Amino acid sequence: MIVNRKVQTLDEFTIQQLRDVPQATGELSHLLRNIGLAGKRIHREVNKAGLVDILGDTGDVNVQGEEVKKLDVYANEQMMGVLRHGIACAGIASEELPDFVAFDDAKSIQSKYVCMFDPLDGSSNIDVNVSIGTIFSVYRRLSPIGTVVTREDFLQPGNRQVAAGYIVYGSSSMLVYATRRGVNGFTLDPSIGEWTLSHPDIKCPERGKIYSVNHGNFFQYDEKVRRYIEACQKKTKADGGPYTQRYIGSMVADVHRNLIKGGIFMYPGTIDRPKGKLRLMYECNPFAFIMQVAGGKATDGKTNILDIQPVELHQRTPLFIGSRLMMEELEQYLAS
Ligand code: AHG
Ligand code: MN
Ligand code: MN
Repeated sequence: MIVNRKVQTLDEFTIQQLRDVPQATGELSHLLRNIGLAGKRIHREVNKAGLVDILGDTGDVNVQGEEVKKLDVYANEQMMGVLRHGIACAGIASEELPDFVAFDDAKSIQSKYVCMFDPLDGSSNIDVNVSIGTIFSVYRRLSPIGTVVTREDFLQPGNRQVAAGYIVYGSSSMLVYATRRGVNGFTLDPSIGEWTLSHPDIKCPERGKIYSVNHGNFFQYDEKVRRYIEACQKKTKADGGPYTQRYIGSMVADVHRNLIKGGIFMYPGTIDRPKGKLRLMYECNPFAFIMQVAGGKATDGKTNILDIQPVELHQRTPLFIGSRLMMEELEQYLAS
């Protein structure tokens, strides 16, 4: 077998980055390594999800004598487990848990980061073999090192993120993360069980031809949003079109595709849910950060997502995110 020694693994890459920043302590590399490990375990479970029906249902005991867990519960436990047992995270908040969890052991309280995540995004797609993912966000705590973290450590605006990323479990699995220095993507090489750098320095094209929105909700959207969607449908070659509509229903897969190919993703507020469906802390902020570092943009229709001061952990927000020039055009419609 030919081994390409120039291909960097996630660990090699983050260590290389450390060399370039003399004051770095290595805590973030450690944290990313932990998340990478949880991601590999979730990848393995996702890949055998189709077997659950023949191996036993959720709540059953499987042939190995283990309880069969719902995948989102499993994913949550993996993410929480690696971060709790690592030495780079002082506490977490998760879409799956009612409140944040402070890690109060002697080692964890010395850590400077807190982490928030959606352990399994797109969970309604699990049963039908469609891509799903994990989304995460890392902040520097505000409380003093050596103490137990507080709610304020979590309720920070997205522009305070130190890093954010996601893992998409798709035709291949990929881990993408951003720091202010750039966005990099790593594909899981199952033969060595390592995330390997496949998409260095990702930039979102300034313009694309894809728009992603749930058309089933069309008549629930605000008139300005409807007008923009109709404009997308009317695009011709002369004004950058024609556009194509793509909507998987897993944000992680929808936004990943648009990040790479260029496009716009929307989850607007509806009459029934004026704040939409997506969660600011676990879904919108991490993607807004990644998109901004990659050259794109994200808003709630009025405010840059990253500038919203959160008031509660599970708050929802409308979301518009994507290529810079497409976002600028959308903003003209929303302002009109
Ligand atoms: P989750 O599985 O974490 O609850 O998130 C699902 C979200 C998101 O991934 C996706 O974009 C959206 O739900 C789809 O919602 P609709 O089916 O209402 O379009
Ligand atoms: Mn989600
Ligand atoms: Mn979820």
